[in-house]
Amino acid sequence: MTTKRHYHIITFGCQMNKADSERMAGILEDMGFEWSDDPNQADVILYNTCTIRDNAEQKVYSYLGRQAKRKQEQPDLTLIVAGCVAQQEGEALLRRVPELDLVMGPQHANRLKDLLESVFAGNQVVATEEVHIFEDITQPRRDSQVTAWVNIIYGCNERCTYCVVPNVRGVEQSRTPESIRAEIAQLGKQGYKEITLLGQNIDAYGRDLPGSTPEGRHLHTLTDLLYYVHDVPGIERIRFATSHPRYFTERLIKACADLPKVCEHFHIPFQSGDNELLKAMSRGYTHEKYRRIIDTIRRYMPDASISADAIVGFPGETEEQFENTLKLTADIGFDMLNTAAYSPRPGTPAALWDNQLSEEVKSDRLQRLNHLVNIKAAERSQRYFGRIEEVLVEAQNTKDTNQVMGRTGGNRLTFFTGDINQLQGQIVKVKITEIRAFSLTGEPVEVRQAVTV
Ligand code: SAH
Ligand code: SF4
Ligand code: F3S
Repeated sequence: MTTKRHYHIITFGCQMNKADSERMAGILEDMGFEWSDDPNQADVILYNTCTIRDNAEQKVYSYLGRQAKRKQEQPDLTLIVAGCVAQQEGEALLRRVPELDLVMGPQHANRLKDLLESVFAGNQVVATEEVHIFEDITQPRRDSQVTAWVNIIYGCNERCTYCVVPNVRGVEQSRTPESIRAEIAQLGKQGYKEITLLGQNIDAYGRDLPGSTPEGRHLHTLTDLLYYVHDVPGIERIRFATSHPRYFTERLIKACADLPKVCEHFHIPFQSGDNELLKAMSRGYTHEKYRRIIDTIRRYMPDASISADAIVGFPGETEEQFENTLKLTADIGFDMLNTAAYSPRPGTPAALWDNQLSEEVKSDRLQRLNHLVNIKAAERSQRYFGRIEEVLVEAQNTKDTNQVMGRTGGNRLTFFTGDINQLQGQIVKVKITEIRAFSLTGEPVEVRQAVTV
């Protein structure tokens, strides 16, 4: 009799990585492994890594060091580095950490079983070549029972001058509408209530798929996909991310206004509020165009919540240019803004420019921007006060077990008193009684019985 072998996965980075980790966990379970909460009890440890900024990359090395040491005492431990650092570093990672068994880029996530079998046969394996991503046949092991990620397009064909993603995630590959719908239909059957369609540049969905309309438009666009998957039984809410201002269309905005299940929340990174910097970043739009997009969204959906990403301290950014970012941030009034100090990345054009800014300037600007973001988010939260919001309950509040937590359609985290066993997966009408910059508290008014099919 053999005892069960255990695995542990540590995930860094964005939603794509989280989705990949869930699929890899599914593959490991299919192979007979069981999840262990404690990495030190696991026979297989997988790090799914991120390299968007230097601090994200460095985090991995410190974690890895500890497990590499353990492997010296426990040679049958299997150590895997997957994701974007694996793709960026490839074999160099094996030289740096010889204890590693498997280094695999994000495009190879669905091939984990084959790769591991090769490892168990005695090989040290590096899988980083560009491949066509195979449709996944394994059930992902999803973290939530209520909300689920659904990849619709992998990779990115943009060339933003600061960004490693195209280097590590490869070219755009869209999944077919049929396979996306089939995955969502299954989620609906399993009781999931909310899906988030994922892509680094989700507006590019379909441009690599064959077919066009008589007017010359691609046959498959994000807008068409939203209409195509909207009526999947059981699914109550649809979100999507990340949008690119260059390709964001009024047709898409209309669809979101038109389709009741699509949440009125838009995540559209602007990166900078200065036209010269936007050009240096190769973003392909101006701040005027960005403002027009937001105006159009608000014309159709006055209450829509808007979030974004921004970078401060891009090479050559002057104080005045930075102030244009502050100005855009103040004018739009974001519900949420992810901010970051520019970090030079290997293999990207901007990393080689000689007009880099000092760390002091970058962190000073980051602080000033964050300060404004908090003020604006608190202002945006005001509108919820006293209102009745529909909250989809996801989990217990870990800090107060008498409370449950969920999100409004606009993606505000909301807490209220309730029993998770009764409420998980339910949409509850909640009267908002307390507001904070990034979360709300309220009192339940009515549980809307979700339509089950
Ligand atoms: N595809 C998305 C974002 C992908 S990366 C888009 O086009 O907007 C997530 C965020 O990380 C980016 O929006 C950007 O704000 C930030 N980022 C990317 N590269 C960075 C770098 N080199 N330094 C600092 N922040 C960076
Ligand atoms: Fe990076 Fe630009 Fe692609 Fe976003 S669109 S992933 S920022 S290259
Ligand atoms: Fe990081 Fe890779 Fe996502 S670099 S942000 S995990 S695409």
